[in-house]
Amino acid sequence: MSRKINIRPSILCADHGNLAEEIKQVCKAGADYFHIDVMDGSFVPNFGCGSEILKTVKAHSHIPMDVHLMVVEPARHIRLFRELGADVIYIHPEAGGETADILAEIRALGAASGIAVNPGTTVEDVMDLLPLCDHVLAMTVNPGFGGQAFMPEVMGKLTELGSLAERFGFELCVDGGISANNIKKPALCGVTGFVVGSALFGQEDYTEAIDELRSAAL
Ligand code: DX5
Ligand code: ZN
Repeated sequence: MSRKINIRPSILCADHGNLAEEIKQVCKAGADYFHIDVMDGSFVPNFGCGSEILKTVKAHSHIPMDVHLMVVEPARHIRLFRELGADVIYIHPEAGGETADILAEIRALGAASGIAVNPGTTVEDVMDLLPLCDHVLAMTVNPGFGGQAFMPEVMGKLTELGSLAERFGFELCVDGGISANNIKKPALCGVTGFVVGSALFGQEDYTEAIDELRSAAL
């Protein structure tokens, strides 16, 4: 299956004092998904994006919501985020609960399922889960904060996951430190979904920035 490069701006890195306008501008610039980083201050040492942010994104955009749950015991929150309009829901296998069951529940609720794979987690660790995923989000930074540097040591894992994507039917995405300067190598491994935070927000022209990311990936 051939997939198209798609850009998923991370709302965590937007100007939250001007959120509605940021959402509209990014949408107009041709973003494919909104990536929403939900952090509980416990699974990761930071807080970020809760239900109010999903409502605001939904109110001002028409593109799908990609919801990355960095929370302990994610099973407790799946239904809530689905009701708020999440189209894709990622969980971390280390976050507690039966990951396979939670992925099945995400699908049963009508959303696309995904796991987020930390830099320290191997393909072998998650192999059994891959057939249950519609999207696999390979973390290219340790989760918790925007604006970190891309970790080149994750490249080997991207190659491995890229070679499995077709067999298991998932879309491979990356999250963390992506910019026009480094987007090409993951794309060559078969990554098609790119979360972009600090390299997009704050740029003068979002259309130009997204176009530049897309062409740098080709
Ligand atoms: C990190 C988050 C990312 C991040 C992306 O925990 O999952 O989505 O905010 O931001 P940049 O592109 O700045 O790394
Ligand atoms: Zn994320």
